[in-house]
Formats: sequence, C-alpha cells, structure tokens
Amino acid sequence: MHKPEDDLPRIEGYLHTAVPGSDVVSEAMRYSLEGGGKRIRPYLVLEFCRLCGADDEAALPFAAAVEMIHTYSLIHDDLPCMDDDDLRRGKPACHVRFGYANALLAGDGLLTLAFETLTKAPLPAERIVDACGVLAAAAGHLGMIGGQTMDLENEGKDISPQILRRTDALKTVELIRAACLLGCIAAQSSPAQRDAAAQFAQGLGMAFQIVDDILDVTSDTATLGKPVGSDETQHKNTYVSFFGLDGARAEAERYTAEAVHALEIFGEDGDTLRALALSLANRNK
Ligand code: IPE
Ligand code: IPE
Ligand code: MG
Ligand code: MG
Ligand code: MG
Repeated sequence: MHKPEDDLPRIEGYLHTAVPGSDVVSEAMRYSLEGGGKRIRPYLVLEFCRLCGADDEAALPFAAAVEMIHTYSLIHDDLPCMDDDDLRRGKPACHVRFGYANALLAGDGLLTLAFETLTKAPLPAERIVDACGVLAAAAGHLGMIGGQTMDLENEGKDISPQILRRTDALKTVELIRAACLLGCIAAQSSPAQRDAAAQFAQGLGMAFQIVDDILDVTSDTATLGKPVGSDETQHKNTYVSFFGLDGARAEAERYTAEAVHALEIFGEDGDTLRALALSLANRNK
C-alpha cells in the first residue's frame, strides 16, 4: 500500500526536471511548480493506476501533467484580477516574484507543457488520446475555467446553494476527477472502476474545496502558506459564508462519506484512498 508520502520523491523528481529552458518564464514555471504543494492530484493518478492493477511508472507523466495544470490554475488564481493573493505555497506568489506578464505567461506555459508531457507517457497511443481529451475537458471553459468564471461572477452576490455547489464542482472537482480518471486510463481499467473513480472524485473534490474554505477562516498564514481571510476580503461566496463553520464541516463530512462509499468495489485495496479522504477532511493546510 502506497501512502501519498511514499510517492512524493518520484513525483518531485519528475517535476524537478520537467521544465526545460533558461529564460525568465521557464524560471517562473519552475519556481511555482517546485513550490511545495501537497501533490494530491498526482498521487491520485498513481494510486488509481495501481488500484486498477497496473504498474504506476508509466503513469508518472500523466501525474505530472495534472500537477502542471493545477499549478497554472493557482498562478492565475492569485493574480490581482482574480483573487489578488501575494503568497502561495509559503513563497511570494508568481506575479509578485516575476511580475504580472511573466506570471500570466508562466501559467500559459504550464498549461501547454501539461499536454506535451502527457504525450511522453510510455503507453499505447489510444490511452494518451483518451487522457488528453479527459484532461482538456476537465480543465477547460466547461470545467475548471468555467468554475473560476462562476467564482468571480459570484463575488458579493446573493447566490443559491445550487450555484455554490456547481461552482465548486467545476473549479475544484473537475481536475480532481481528471486525476482519478487518468490513473484508470493508464491502467486500462474496467468501466465500473472508472465510474467508481469518478464518484470518489466527486465526494473528495467537494469536501476538499469546503475544507479549503474552512481553513481560510480557521488556519493561519504560516501554516497554510497562503493568506488567510482572503475569501472575506474578496467577498467570496464560500461554504463558510453560506453555511457557517459548523454547517460547512457537516457538508465536508457528508461528501467525504460519499467518497469513501464509492470505493466499495475496490475492497481492501481501497483502504489507502479511504484513509486519504479522511485525512484530507481533517487537514490543517
Ligand atoms: C488549492 O489546492 C486550490 C484548491 C482547489 C482548493 P491545493 O490545496 O491542492 O494546493 P497545493 O497544491 O497543496 O498548494
Ligand atoms: C481555487 O480556489 C480553485 C482553482 C481552480 C485554482 P481558491 O481560490 O479557493 O484556491 P486558494 O484558496 O486560492 O488556494
Ligand atoms: Mg479562487
Ligand atoms: Mg484563491
Ligand atoms: Mg481557497
């Protein structure tokens, strides 16, 4: 059984050499990519690949590609025209360190490099094409970008709980679902395993964003590595502003239980992911 920390050296090792180039934008891409995130999404790629019965080595480029998309989304999310945050992963945000234009380009560069990286997987071409379609749709304007659009549109507005759920389902669940599905695709899983992975991602991803909203209120900047209180400053609609802290915690628990339930078809082999879902619900960063 691999825990997330067991996979970290290989994930970090791959990412460390994944961005060539000596110009300022290449440097900015490396700065943000090597910035010490939790690496949950690449871990999900590798774990679902193993869970579906394949050797995970060939899935490493898929794992790295998802982390590149995630990192690009964080660079752009921090820009003054979006959440206007100065700190990310315990360091000055990309635009603070490299300027707005270079941060914009570093995000674009990581988005593009993600798809080049997918093609490096030593897997049959049909699986790479499948992965490419899934990742592009999840990251795109009807996926993560659509969620970021709604998140900005919602600022300062009186919205319904349905809109809040839809926003999080797009801005956060979509990429987490793509991570789980890319692991399944790398392993050529059964349709039932793929459905279970998508169900798991739905619960895990919703709980993940709700806990992120909670930590913005309850944690401190040194622990989180990003500014606390940012959501209130930006007049964001979040699970906490909507349901209060206790209500948000109850929602996170409910979604975590749904994620755990979705793992049933994997039997005991799903224990590592069960433990991950529970630990993410109780994380402090
Ligand atoms: C932050 O994601 C953005 C959300 C979708 C909540 P993570 O909490 O995974 O950030 P890192 O990768 O660990 O920095
Ligand atoms: C970001 O959500 C989701 C993305 C797609 C980047 P947040 O705006 O809450 O993420 P943090 O709190 O800045 O990491
Ligand atoms: Mg945001
Ligand atoms: Mg943000
Ligand atoms: Mg947040």
